Amino acid sequence: MPTIPNKYLVTSALPYANGALHLGHFAGAYLPGDIYVRFLRSMGKDVVWVCGSDEHGASITIRAKKEGIEPQQIIDKYHELNKDSFEKLGMSFDIYHRTSAKLHHETAQEFFLHMQEKGGEFEVKESEQYYDEEFDQFLADRYIKGTCPKCSHDAAYGDQCENCGSDLSPTELINPVSTLSEKTPSLRKTKHWFFKLDKHSDWLKDFISKGTIDGKQHHDPKKWKKHVTGQCLSWLDDLRPRAITRDLSWGIPVPLPEAEGKVFYVWFDAPIGYISATKQWAKDNGKDWESYWKNEDSQLVHFIGKDNIVFHCIVFPAMLKAHGDYNLPVNVPANQFLNFEGEKFSKSRNWGIEIHQYLEDFASFENKEDALRYALIRNMPENKDSDFKWDEFVEFHDNELVNNLGNFINRVVVLTNKYYEGVVPESDQKEAQVITDVKEVMAQYENDILDFSFRSAVLKVMEISSLGNTYLQDVSPWSIYKTEPDSQEVKNCLYNCLQIVGILASVVEPFLPFSAKKINNILQREEMPLADVIAKISAQEAVLPTGHKIGEPQLLFAKINDTKDTSRMDLIKREKGKLLEIIEQSKPKQEAIKDTISFDDFTKMDIRTAKILTAKKVEKADKLLELTVDLGIEKRTVVSGIAKHYKPEELIGKEVLLLANLAPRKIRGVESKGMILMAENEQGELCLVSPNKPFGTGWVVR
Ligand code: MF3
Ligand code: ZN
Repeated sequence: MPTIPNKYLVTSALPYANGALHLGHFAGAYLPGDIYVRFLRSMGKDVVWVCGSDEHGASITIRAKKEGIEPQQIIDKYHELNKDSFEKLGMSFDIYHRTSAKLHHETAQEFFLHMQEKGGEFEVKESEQYYDEEFDQFLADRYIKGTCPKCSHDAAYGDQCENCGSDLSPTELINPVSTLSEKTPSLRKTKHWFFKLDKHSDWLKDFISKGTIDGKQHHDPKKWKKHVTGQCLSWLDDLRPRAITRDLSWGIPVPLPEAEGKVFYVWFDAPIGYISATKQWAKDNGKDWESYWKNEDSQLVHFIGKDNIVFHCIVFPAMLKAHGDYNLPVNVPANQFLNFEGEKFSKSRNWGIEIHQYLEDFASFENKEDALRYALIRNMPENKDSDFKWDEFVEFHDNELVNNLGNFINRVVVLTNKYYEGVVPESDQKEAQVITDVKEVMAQYENDILDFSFRSAVLKVMEISSLGNTYLQDVSPWSIYKTEPDSQEVKNCLYNCLQIVGILASVVEPFLPFSAKKINNILQREEMPLADVIAKISAQEAVLPTGHKIGEPQLLFAKINDTKDTSRMDLIKREKGKLLEIIEQSKPKQEAIKDTISFDDFTKMDIRTAKILTAKKVEKADKLLELTVDLGIEKRTVVSGIAKHYKPEELIGKEVLLLANLAPRKIRGVESKGMILMAENEQGELCLVSPNKPFGTGWVVR
C-alpha cells in the first residue's frame, strides 16, 4: 500500500441549474467523485467534497426565456431537483452550494479585485460585438447562431460548434442570427476585461507536461489521463487573452465603477464557486476553509467531464496562480462521454433517462440506487466514450450483483445461521490461502482507485466475492456437515467466508454504499472503515470476530431475468419500449398509397426480367448511368438515375426488373428504352429490385 496524502479538497463540476441531470452527467463527474471521496474517507483521510449549482450564464437565461419565466425560477427549480437526485443516489457531497448565494457573489468579486490590485493580469479592450437592436442588448455568444466556418453546420453557437466541437467566436460565424429576435444582429462597440491567459503560457506548459510549478515538482504528470494531458497540450500552443466580462443583466456585477452594467462571464465565477462552497461548508461546520485550499499538503482534485478540461486544467489554474496563495490541482481525472443506447443523450429528442425519472420508474425495484451505480461504473467512460445499454444493465445486475456478490453473502449468512445459530465460529487456522489471495486483490483495488481506474477497481470487488464463492464451493461444508456437524473444517470454512463478507462490506462501500449498509445490517455491526480492515488483515486479526452474532439473511439484489416474477424485467421492457417509440416517431413519414387502378391498368405494363451487361457514366450528369441490358429477345440501352447509389462496375451482371414498354425518351442525348425498377427509402436511397433467386432473362412479371 503506497502512503497517500492525508488532506484533500475534491470538487465535481457545478452543473448548470437549467435542466435535469441524466445518467451521462452522473457517470462523468459525480459518481467517480463519490467513489474517490468515500474511499479516502474510509481510509481515514481528511476530505472535503464540494459541489453545487452553476446558476449564471446564458444557458440559464435562454432556458428562462424558453419557458417564459424568470431566471430565478429556473435556478430554484433545477437546483432543488438536481440536489435531490444527487442525494437519492448517495452522492456524499459535504456541501451542495449554489452560485447565486451572496457568499459566492462576494467571493468572486473579491477574487477579481485581488487580481486587479496585483496588476498585470487584465487588460481592458474595446471591441465590436453583436447587438440585438430589437431587444436592445448585447448578445452573449450563446445567443448568436450561424453557420460554422469550420464544418458548415448551420446551427453553430457563437462560442462553440456542437457539431465539430470547434471553439468559435461570434464574429467567425457565417450568417449570424440573434436567437432573441431571429434577426441579423449589428456590431456595436463595447469594452471588456480580458484575462491575459497568454502570459501564463510558459509555466502552464511545465505544469501540464512536467508536473512542475516554478521548477518544483508538484504532481506526477504520468498519473494524469492521456486524453486530458493531450487536450491541454493542444491548447497551450495558442493561448489568447479571454474576456471575463459580459454585457448582461444576469450574473455577478463586476465591482468597478467603470464596469457599470457588466457581469462576470460565467466561466470566471463558476470555478470560484468551489472556493465559496468550501467557505460555506467551513462556516457551517466550524472548520478552516483556507487550510484545504492553501496548505501545501492539501490535494486539490477536480472531477469533470471532458468538455470542461480546458477550464479546469488551464484557465482556472491560471486564475489561482495569478491570484496567488492557492493550490493548483494535483489531478483532473476528466471522464469522456457516456452515450445512451448507441446515441448521444438528447433533451429535445427525449433520448436518454434523467435521474429523477429513473428513480420514479424504478421506484419498486430492489436496491435501484446501487443497481444503477453499478451499471454506470462497469461502463464508466474513463478513457473513451462508452455506452449505456439496458441489456447490459440487466447482465451486470444479474450475473455480477445477484449471482456473484449477493449469492456469496447469502450462502454464508444462511449457513452460519443454520449451523451455528448465527454466531461466528472459531478457526484453528493461521491464515487460509483464500484470505491471502483476497489481500492481494485488495492491494490492487486500492491502487486502481488511487489511479482513478474505477471500472477496474469494482471488478476487484467482484473478484474478492468470486474467490469466496470458489472457496466455499471447493470446501462444500454442507457435505461434510451432514456426517460431521462438529467438524473443525466446516468452522474454519465459515469463519473464513465470514471474514470475506466483512471485508466485502467495506470494499463495496465506495461503489455501492446502499448495499454496504445492508450488508453491515445483516452482519449486525457498524461500518468498518477500510483503514481498520487493512490494519486488521495485515495483523492477521479478525474483521468479524469469533463469537459475534450476525443477523438473518436479507435480500440484497433481486434477479431481473426471473421467469417466476417478471415485474423487474417488465420495467426494463418499458424503458426499451419508450426508446422504440422515439425511434418510430423520428422515422420520416411514409408516402400514402396512390389512387386505385384497375387490373387492366396493371396489365398495360410490360415488366420483364433482364440482366445488366454494361454500365458507364453519362458525361456531365452526376446522377445518370448508361446501361445496356439483355432482355432475352433483344438488348437495349437504358439511362438510369442511380449513379449516386451504385458504381458502374457493381452493376454488371445484376438481374433486374425492367418496364419494357415505357415510351422511349432521349436523356442527355442518349435514347433510353424502358425503365429499371427501383425501391426508394425515405432518405431517397435507391435500391435495385432483384429476384430472390437467379432467373433467366426475359421472364414476364404478372
Ligand atoms: N456548469 C458547467 C457545465 O455544466 C461546469 C462548471 S464547473 C465550474 O459544463 F468549475 F465552473 F464550476
Ligand atoms: Zn462546426
